[in-house]
Amino acid sequence: MNIRPRINRWTAARRDLLFGDSVLTSLVQPHFVVHGVGVDEPIRGMPGIHQQSVDVLLKTVEEDASHGVRAVMLFGVVDAEHKDEHATHAHEASSHLHQAVLKLKAAHGEDLVVMTDVCLCTATDHGHCGLVHEGEIVNDASVEVLVNIALSHAEAGADYVCASDMMDGRVSAIRTAFEGAGYTNTGLMSYSVKYASSFYGPFRHAAHSSPEFGDRATHQMDVRSGYAEAVLEATMDEAEGADIIMVKPGLPYLDVLRKVADTVARPVAVYNVSGEYAMIMNATDDEASRQRMVVEVLTAFKRAGADVVVTYHARDAARNGWVQ
Ligand code: PBG
Repeated sequence: MNIRPRINRWTAARRDLLFGDSVLTSLVQPHFVVHGVGVDEPIRGMPGIHQQSVDVLLKTVEEDASHGVRAVMLFGVVDAEHKDEHATHAHEASSHLHQAVLKLKAAHGEDLVVMTDVCLCTATDHGHCGLVHEGEIVNDASVEVLVNIALSHAEAGADYVCASDMMDGRVSAIRTAFEGAGYTNTGLMSYSVKYASSFYGPFRHAAHSSPEFGDRATHQMDVRSGYAEAVLEATMDEAEGADIIMVKPGLPYLDVLRKVADTVARPVAVYNVSGEYAMIMNATDDEASRQRMVVEVLTAFKRAGADVVVTYHARDAARNGWVQ
């Protein structure tokens, strides 16, 4: 089986996230998890968003959850000394990212949807999303590493592993590996329609994942590509067994989001990325103006067909009661 519709129904928190009729339950808060204890480091360009060690993260998620944010997306930030050309640290069960998943699930169980980023870029010494052979980002060998990362996150207890790498064939490879290993209720969210966007700058700083050379143009989608390419990527991932299909970034691609939402039968997510967040945070210091902008943006995502909205604004929107 490569499609198990029950995965999206497995817990009440998953059902609320995907099928609930409120904006609040559709939000996912991203987090940058770092090694150490007591670390709570503000991120340049992303006011209000911090790199946090597991102990601090647990408190933040607890507080967010009390305001109704019941889904998180975790990015493991890897120290320079742990990076290598094989992205080994990304699938080490002892890593702080894996500890974060374990502890969040132990604390919140089925009341929290824990999503994990599956990519190589935070753990490779060259910062690319795949393995590099003779200056090129290779596909199939990278997929093998992605499968190992996904398996390790499933083992830690993630609700959804989220493949953000854009290698070909990784959805079916991860799904097949999950079936083989008995992870039959672990979900897979695919960054299916992910553009080689210039809006990821603050994130790459936060995640220490900027490429040391070259760019991501050979795997992420060309911003000039049309609907056919978006539909191709989305329908391939749907057929390969993705439980959630994502479009990323959000605001410059609302038309693509609508197209994908009208095309696939699976829930659709949108990622309101770091550069989009920075634009709004830099636009004004006036709280009321910011509230109106955030609510307008979230409303646009829902109107364009997003079931799930991954956004750094989730915390503010929930804590201040901007959305219900
Ligand atoms: C990892 C990844 C990126 C983002 C999410 N996962 C960066 C990239 O592709 O370079 C960007 C998220 C954001 O900008 O908020 N591949």
